[in-house]
Amino acid sequence: MDTSVVSASGVTMKDHGVDVPLPGGQSGYFNFYWLRDNCPTSFDSQTRERTFDIFHLSREPRPASVRLAGDALEIAWMEDGHASRYPLDWLSQYGEGKRRQDPADLPRRAWYADHYPDIARFSQPKLKEDKREVVKWIEALLAEGVAIVTDMPDSDEALTETVRLIGHVRPTFFGEYFDVKTHVNPTNLGYTAKALELHTDTPAEEMAPGVQFLHCRANSVEGGMSLFLDGVAVANDLRKEYPEDFKLLSETVIPYYCEHDDYDMRSRQRVIELDERGEVSGVTISRHMADIFDLPQAFLDRYYPAFCRFGRMLQSDKYVMRFRLNAAECIVFDNHRIVHGRSAYSATSGERYLRGCYADRGEMRSAYRALTTEGRFK
Ligand SMILES: [Fe+2]
Repeated sequence: MDTSVVSASGVTMKDHGVDVPLPGGQSGYFNFYWLRDNCPTSFDSQTRERTFDIFHLSREPRPASVRLAGDALEIAWMEDGHASRYPLDWLSQYGEGKRRQDPADLPRRAWYADHYPDIARFSQPKLKEDKREVVKWIEALLAEGVAIVTDMPDSDEALTETVRLIGHVRPTFFGEYFDVKTHVNPTNLGYTAKALELHTDTPAEEMAPGVQFLHCRANSVEGGMSLFLDGVAVANDLRKEYPEDFKLLSETVIPYYCEHDDYDMRSRQRVIELDERGEVSGVTISRHMADIFDLPQAFLDRYYPAFCRFGRMLQSDKYVMRFRLNAAECIVFDNHRIVHGRSAYSATSGERYLRGCYADRGEMRSAYRALTTEGRFK
């Protein structure tokens, strides 16, 4: 039974928390554990980490007194007499149980085959000089999932320096960097002159890397056009036109692999990825790294047609942007959203060399928040 007690200031004590009148006429309910845990004194001003240890409470924290004092809620705690003061404006942020506003949570803008002239472009020397350019660059990557960095110096260090503007180089099971050119003993279609089908990278990793960088160092061959498309645009169309297929691809986990003499990577992924709002956030697709589907065969009667329909849609002229990546350009894109490939080229017609690596999307969002907002402690 709830035994509410209303104080003179309008604060209502409940069994496990308190109702507080908030600015704007609303009221909010706050749990005692939550209040004690988040007393402003719980946080170290230097490290900004919580130093208060909620695990050491012997029982549920209870207030000896609760009152409104001006624009703050004041609580004296029964157990240790500790005094806590919570500004009402601060409490308002949490009163409805909603997630804290995230500046890096920008709406996605789907794009189609004609996007090439509109790809956001940034000069590498300017990015290094001006953090405002870095902000615009990350905004393009969050909203559209792709951007081109131009004026890249012709060096290995230039790629590392560019990555370091938004995070760290994130290794995969084959190392920190990779070289896309013809290899003598290729372990991957990317290392041949053959056509490279549309895919997202390293789906066999448990957490495939979030941001991919491809720095074009040379491209004078015949053929070798880059093919890029927005997986969000295709998946959103699938959702509208074939909702049953969309459901299968967004709910079913399928196996991916990458296997050779000394490695055997395996993971299970959904082809269409949804965010916590249920919106399409991206895709994980690779026909050449899809493992043998170890699902009930009768289920595959439905799954395979959906998988193939989506695969055909990905190849449609409506979505695929075709262009030549030029030397001194670095294309940067969301590896969980942007599906990419390459047309075949003539290896003897010239030189084609792309040096690539990855970074983490969470680090990129962190860089964006740090550059654009004050945060919780300033
Ligand atoms: Fe790739």
